[in-house]
Amino acid sequence: MRYSENKQAKTFRTVVIKSQVTEWLGRVRDEVSLYRHNKQNRKGVVSPDAQEIHVIKDALPQSTFDELLRHINENSSGLVRSEVEWRTGRAIGGHELKQGSLWPLLEYLTTESFLNRVRRHTKIHQLQLVPARDTNQISLLDYRGQPDDTDRAETISKEVPGDGISWHVDGSIYLGDRWAGILVLKEDTREENSKLELRPNGESLQLKKRDLINSLVLFRGDHVEHRVRPLNPSEHRIVLSLLFSPNPVMTKNPLLLRYQSRVNQIFYGNSAL
Ligand SMILES: [Fe+2]
Repeated sequence: MRYSENKQAKTFRTVVIKSQVTEWLGRVRDEVSLYRHNKQNRKGVVSPDAQEIHVIKDALPQSTFDELLRHINENSSGLVRSEVEWRTGRAIGGHELKQGSLWPLLEYLTTESFLNRVRRHTKIHQLQLVPARDTNQISLLDYRGQPDDTDRAETISKEVPGDGISWHVDGSIYLGDRWAGILVLKEDTREENSKLELRPNGESLQLKKRDLINSLVLFRGDHVEHRVRPLNPSEHRIVLSLLFSPNPVMTKNPLLLRYQSRVNQIFYGNSAL
């Protein structure tokens, strides 16, 4: 009897160890593939199967959208300005947004009700927001042109371009597919097309500005090249950036995490991940 019990316990232990090893090997495989993906990305190699773009109109209820815009126009505190070679602009990270007065208006975007709309539209039924500990889950980005001050020397406004981001693909710290969402709140520019420009399959795609206000543009930011064209004097653009994944498991690779942490520090003045 005792021999049989020992044998059963041993078999059980073996099964547990085997399943743990399988899980661990799967994790290592996913980490290696993410590492390779980021490395390929930097060389401009992207997947032709990840070039689709979705536009979800009326993302926020109209009354919420109107109130949000009112708040934003009245108060721009909390914005952190950053200037790096490939990007200039202001931003508020998710951690700060959640502590601020805008949050009651933004919270809807983190609800199942909104996520279900996104899932239905994209037909990606597992799509979720990345965890709230990632400040990029939801952040606010603010781009401005140089002040259009005619008293200033003309050279200042003519020669210094306004905020923007050069052509790039995003890095990823998630083992699952990464979906970037841009929800346009305000685009006061003199152009008909949005400053957000995408390059699916290497071909430039500009979207009509009027179709994008309160719309969520969803694309695989780590596979579709994109940029924000520099803003002209006195132009102003404010968007929310949301980050989704059907499998939002954050990497444990310390190099990738350190890189993301540095980017967060530059963008939001807060390196927390
Ligand atoms: Fe990007």
